[in-house]
Amino acid sequence: MALSGGSTPKIIFETLSIPGKYKIDWNKVHLYWGDERCVPPTDDESNYKMTREYLLYGIDIPEANIHRILGEAKPELEAIRYSNVINEQLPKTAGVPVFDLILLGMGEDGHTASIFPHEIALWDAEDFCEVANHPVSGQQRITFTGKIINNAKVVAFLVTGVGKKDKVAEIINHKGNFSSYPASLVAPVSGSLLWFLDEAAASGL
Ligand code: 6PG
Repeated sequence: MALSGGSTPKIIFETLSIPGKYKIDWNKVHLYWGDERCVPPTDDESNYKMTREYLLYGIDIPEANIHRILGEAKPELEAIRYSNVINEQLPKTAGVPVFDLILLGMGEDGHTASIFPHEIALWDAEDFCEVANHPVSGQQRITFTGKIINNAKVVAFLVTGVGKKDKVAEIINHKGNFSSYPASLVAPVSGSLLWFLDEAAASGL
């Protein structure tokens, strides 16, 4: 499975890491990331750091099953390296790696993974991973592109908060400017798309 970053996943990760709550054989689970900030793994901005603090510390998963994006590496080289990692390690359909599950978040601007509206063309990039740029901070990111995301067996959006209710409603109902939001492009070719919303984020539906 590929994990999303930001803050929303923390609620899921904390629950998953409660000892004995779920019977998950973590030896059989390999963790990847759908995007990462181009910062060291010790940086508070790092999605890997957040995952280690909220999930990894509490589960018995082999280090070999954790495939982090190297946020400290040169972005252009890491996008290539990570594309090669998933290409070599995952089963494929039509030459494209297939994830069992990809978790995604959505920003208030309708971005998902690290594909932001001002760079929505990255969604259709040829490569599996690209270098993206945060529209405000300019922070570089490594991100999956649409080719990988839409090839997954299951894509699960985790979206909370009233600030996202309008975008959620526009995207799910195909209304307003939905097509300008990268999150609206998530449409698994043959897999399932699930939305997990809290009441606030769903209040526009
Ligand atoms: C990231 C995430 C990003 C996130 C959204 C929502 O690296 O920030 O992958 O796509 O899911 O920005 O973030 P919140 O969960 O913090 O609202």
